[in-house]
Amino acid sequence: MAFTPQFLDELRGRSSLSDVIGKRVRLIKKGREWHGLCPFHKEKTPSFTVNEDKAFYHCFGCGAHGSIFDFVMNTEGLSFPETVERLALDAGMPVPRDTPEERQRAAQYQGLQDVTEAACQWFQRALHMPEGKACLDYLRGRGITDEILAKFRLGFAPDTRNALKTALANKDIPEDLMVETGMLIRPPEDRADRTPYDRFRGRLMFPIMDRRGRVIAFGGRTLIDDKAKYLNSPETPIFHKGQVLYGLDQALASARKSGHLILAEGYMDVIALQMAGFDEAVAPLGTALTEQHLAMMWRVAPEPVLCFDGDEAGQRAALRAAERALPLLKSGYGLRFAELPKDEDPDTLIAKQGKAAMREILDQALPLSEVLWRMECGGAVPATPEGRAALQHRLGEHTKRIEDPTMRGHFTTTFKERIWQAGRAARPGQSGGMDILQPHQVSSQSSPQRRQLEILLVTLISYPQLYDDVSERLGALDFTKAGQRLDNLRQEVLKTLAGQSGLDFNGLTDHLRVSEFSVELDTVMGEDVLIDASFARPDGELSNALNGWDHTYQLMSEKTLDLEIKAAQAQLAENYTEENWNRLQVLKTQNRVIDAE
Ligand code: UTP
Ligand code: MN
Repeated sequence: MAFTPQFLDELRGRSSLSDVIGKRVRLIKKGREWHGLCPFHKEKTPSFTVNEDKAFYHCFGCGAHGSIFDFVMNTEGLSFPETVERLALDAGMPVPRDTPEERQRAAQYQGLQDVTEAACQWFQRALHMPEGKACLDYLRGRGITDEILAKFRLGFAPDTRNALKTALANKDIPEDLMVETGMLIRPPEDRADRTPYDRFRGRLMFPIMDRRGRVIAFGGRTLIDDKAKYLNSPETPIFHKGQVLYGLDQALASARKSGHLILAEGYMDVIALQMAGFDEAVAPLGTALTEQHLAMMWRVAPEPVLCFDGDEAGQRAALRAAERALPLLKSGYGLRFAELPKDEDPDTLIAKQGKAAMREILDQALPLSEVLWRMECGGAVPATPEGRAALQHRLGEHTKRIEDPTMRGHFTTTFKERIWQAGRAARPGQSGGMDILQPHQVSSQSSPQRRQLEILLVTLISYPQLYDDVSERLGALDFTKAGQRLDNLRQEVLKTLAGQSGLDFNGLTDHLRVSEFSVELDTVMGEDVLIDASFARPDGELSNALNGWDHTYQLMSEKTLDLEIKAAQAQLAENYTEENWNRLQVLKTQNRVIDAE
């Protein structure tokens, strides 16, 4: 039985090598690769590697090497066609055969795609005709360069009912195909005149490409103040809105390389982001994010950043995306949410504040769990046990929708821990004889908060045995202020220890160096950090380290409480309500209990 090359290509693109192999081999991520114990020979130290970019696995021990198809054939003993069917089933793809019908279907796709391609070329030319002048001026006014015009193949649809139709007819394209691709509208049956006419009129045209860069549809922005600001092609045999992301063809190569992906809301946002050097930007097509969209994004980037407009609609869209993502979460995959200032989109933000401001907003994007947390507790954990129980229940409603048990467990414990921690903020901390400097005594350019985060992290690196005691709390801490690099190091440490329980200090640091974290490691293991917290030195006592960790964490919680009190005071000053007053009193009570100790 033969399969078309296009189908095998698509199947390879839709299946994740590390997912498939990960079902049989425990894989640990190292940089852009995964490592694990080779399933093809017996070994004690991992020499088996999986490279998702290059789409193959390789064992440096026994030389086993191959594609996703080879892996399934070799480990499951399936034939090639059986392997293809199995992978297609997992990827949710129907298996087309290289049959006369299938060839006919491929020919149909090609036929329709020829029409959209011809239309695209015609729109591009029209942009440079006299009638396209206003549109071109408009684009120039928005800072679009010739290079971008060409890259995104922007065009213009004149404000007439027949211009495109005539042009395509002159190329012998049948009218039926123009209707089938959505380029023409055929009036419904109850109309006397059913002559088809151009769908896009007086619009700036954005061609929409499939993953391989072939034009399959269009979005058109009105230039004549039509009430529909954007008009998209209808669903056609070659265009399914819910399965396409604008800009993905352009973004794919850099996204695969960097592992980043930015999801914006609009065409112009994608273009503005790319112009500002954020090559990995895509957008849905004016629809809510679908499961297919999420799956497509996760195939290229484990943690896409959603960057929706800073208005109410944008925020609602972000929450809907979060809800859609919950059931699909698996370990290693997530979503982050960038917070844009009110009433800005990436395009306007970059225009007003520049790339650096955009970069900062992307860097500070919050993980999904944090977004849910903030949404449900509104920044403050209720002071009463009843309030905290209700909060826990509301969060539980979200977490129970996560299907992956490991992921669900992580969310549940993190939320519980945070609620518990807030309730405990009033509890006296352990103290006495601890070998630690108070944050205000720390003399270094590092901010006190950053320094404490470094200490917490380095203690765990020195004593991986503390993982069970501290990982949940360390994982829940907000590292945004400490910078992306320290956060990356934290993620790597937690991920590694989650996967390999027996690792000691040497094993862990070896792994971190191999994974190219040497710079970060040397920074946090440096004397100026350790001098502030000698319990974090790897050659000390485990119990000392645990006490030191708890104490530092406790100090951080107090610091957070201070900040909360300041915020509550400001809020009360601005808006003198009973609710705000009560909130401040509760926080102050918690603070007095700590002070009394
Ligand atoms: P926006 O209204 O935010 O537009 O719609 P925009 O991208 O910022 O465009 P400019 O900057 O005003 O030119 C965001 C996206 O929602 C879809 C389009 O995909 C658009 O890019 N949309 C919007 C529609 O499909 N139809 C509409 O009428 C409006
Ligand atoms: Mn805009």
